[in-house]
Amino acid sequence: MTQKRLTDKVALVTGGGNGIGRATCLRFAEEDATVVIADVDEASGNQLAEEINKTGKQAFFVPTDISSEASIQNLVKETEEHFDRIDILVNNAAVFVLRGIDASVDEWQQVLQVNVVGTALVTRSVVPLMKRSGGGAIVNLGSISSFIAQREFVTYSSTKAAISNMTRCLAEDLAESHIRVNAVCPGTVWTGIVEELTRQQGLDRATADAHPDWGGTHMLRRIADPREIANAILFLASDEASFITGENLMVDGGYTAR
Ligand SMILES: NC(=O)c1ccc[n+]([C@@H]2O[C@H](COP(=O)([O-])OP(=O)(O)OC[C@H]3O[C@@H](n4cnc5c(N)ncnc54)[C@H](O)[C@@H]3O)[C@@H](O)[C@H]2O)c1
Repeated sequence: MTQKRLTDKVALVTGGGNGIGRATCLRFAEEDATVVIADVDEASGNQLAEEINKTGKQAFFVPTDISSEASIQNLVKETEEHFDRIDILVNNAAVFVLRGIDASVDEWQQVLQVNVVGTALVTRSVVPLMKRSGGGAIVNLGSISSFIAQREFVTYSSTKAAISNMTRCLAEDLAESHIRVNAVCPGTVWTGIVEELTRQQGLDRATADAHPDWGGTHMLRRIADPREIANAILFLASDEASFITGENLMVDGGYTAR
């Protein structure tokens, strides 16, 4: 039998219940990882764990709100009790507070608390376990929004820019502990938020792909499927990326290349 890419690895995916996180959990399970799904959405998290376990692979759902330090502590405690290690962390959970200059204090605090502080606190809680087992890999979710200007996106985009440099800073700090830290930066991906925004404009998947403001903004002239992002996350999480750290990998169909 051929060795899979994540055999004997325990991977924790925040926001694993839906969208890119869900695709990542499924992709990791295909590569034989034990997957810990952390999400505020209990229905989706439980359903996905059941779906993976039915295939004979191992998945475990822990209801988690990454904006709460106590909830993060519980997540890591549960993972440690069940599996005694974490080899891979995917910091994927985020909220889409898409606002311009008029954003309220509450909106700023919510988006910063989940997307930036939450990501940093999950990482802080997981790192001791990674160190204990000799190292690991962390993959953060940046975005094209980390690097470019988009109208009325200042709240969300500021957090994604923070993730990109958090990735570089933590790569520097954690290298001596044999922990690599990278980010995947997707273009537009067909998940709940994009489905909702395009539906509001009367578009479906095919017409959104063809639309100049959606699929058309990417060189490849279409929106990505979540699995295409999961494939890049898998690469950076795996030993195949053993000499890559501090990198922001654009997975954007050429969006930012022009
Ligand atoms: N969809 C895109 O076009 C796109 C593009 C670039 C980057 N991204 C990034 O990819 C990541 C995933 O995006 P998506 O489109 O799959 O989103 P999604 O909304 O489909 O999934 C996000 C998941 O995170 C969970 N979540 C939200 N807040 C949480 C919290 N406080 N604690 C725990 N879980 C929480 C949600 O319940 C959901 O299951 C995000 O970091 C996003 O910024 C998405």
